[in-house]
Amino acid sequence: MAFKERVFSGVQPTGNLHLGNYLGAISKFVPLQEKYDCIYCVVDMHAITVWQDPAELTKTTREVTAAFIACGLDPDKNIIFNQSQVAEHAELAWVFNCVARIGWLNRMTQFKEKTGKDRENASVGLYVYPSLMAADILLYRATHVPVGEDQKQHVELSRDIAQKFNNDFAPSIQSRGYGDAFFPLPEPLIQGQATRVMSLRDGSKKMSKSDPSDYSRINLTDDADAIAQKIRKAKTDPEPLPGEEKGLEPRPEADNLVGIYAALQGISRAEVLKEFGGAQFSTFKSALVDLAVAKLGPIGAEMKKLVQDPVYIDKVLANGSERAQAIAADTMKAVKDIVGFIRH
Ligand code: TRP
Repeated sequence: MAFKERVFSGVQPTGNLHLGNYLGAISKFVPLQEKYDCIYCVVDMHAITVWQDPAELTKTTREVTAAFIACGLDPDKNIIFNQSQVAEHAELAWVFNCVARIGWLNRMTQFKEKTGKDRENASVGLYVYPSLMAADILLYRATHVPVGEDQKQHVELSRDIAQKFNNDFAPSIQSRGYGDAFFPLPEPLIQGQATRVMSLRDGSKKMSKSDPSDYSRINLTDDADAIAQKIRKAKTDPEPLPGEEKGLEPRPEADNLVGIYAALQGISRAEVLKEFGGAQFSTFKSALVDLAVAKLGPIGAEMKKLVQDPVYIDKVLANGSERAQAIAADTMKAVKDIVGFIRH
């Protein structure tokens, strides 16, 4: 059976949004709105799988929403909402907790990385985080999921859950006229350059909101001076830039800065090196500062303006939630029938 093409993605409202979130996720959402029916969700329920200060959570939920809009997502064209306003996410996640196998969740590398040796003390929510993510996607029967490289395994788990649900309930699905499969098998969309942006201080570590050094990242709300300072101080090596991509392989910091330039400009690393091969870092960094300020400056300014109007932001989220819920409610009714739950 052919499913209607639909895009779903989520961003967690935890901490400052930085260049990694922008290049790895949000900037990739923007062109999709021209081609697909898109739903973008601020996943506040995923956020609380680790402790969040309540006032901070409210603030960062509005900030992510502001970032969506400032980056160019149109809240009329797309559905933009926060997860907790549509209760069906939690409801479907429960059904999926009963479909997913413990062995599947035990293989999730993000859970292993996040918990390390202190697994006993992690929340149960963190463990079943991938079931909730599958519910996010499948509640809307989304077919395409734009994510960074690090979320690929979770999208694949969503496929496994969809497939097992379709198999386990096949007779019930068929007898209700839904054909062979009730859920589509969603595909990760991993597009373009710099889906992984690394720390400006250490090219082997991901750019992260939790790095103690603010010089390790460019925040979306940094002004031109801060952007310039951080790029000038970014770690490099003493060699000039290579002429070809292969020359970047043993040089993680050079590779990262070239990758950032390529992603911001929408070109390949090879094209960047055609222009800057042989150049000193001082020259390349000046060009990168100009480009980063030109691209990120207006976004930061717009974000700052938007967060000063929480009434408007909350209205966007309320409107998006209503539209999302209309779809989610239909899916959930069908799921209840398929599973055999009585409903009036
Ligand atoms: N787990 C994703 C992340 O941390 C966020 C997320 C939650 C998501 N639900 C989703 C992404 C559904 C894509 C689709 O980045």
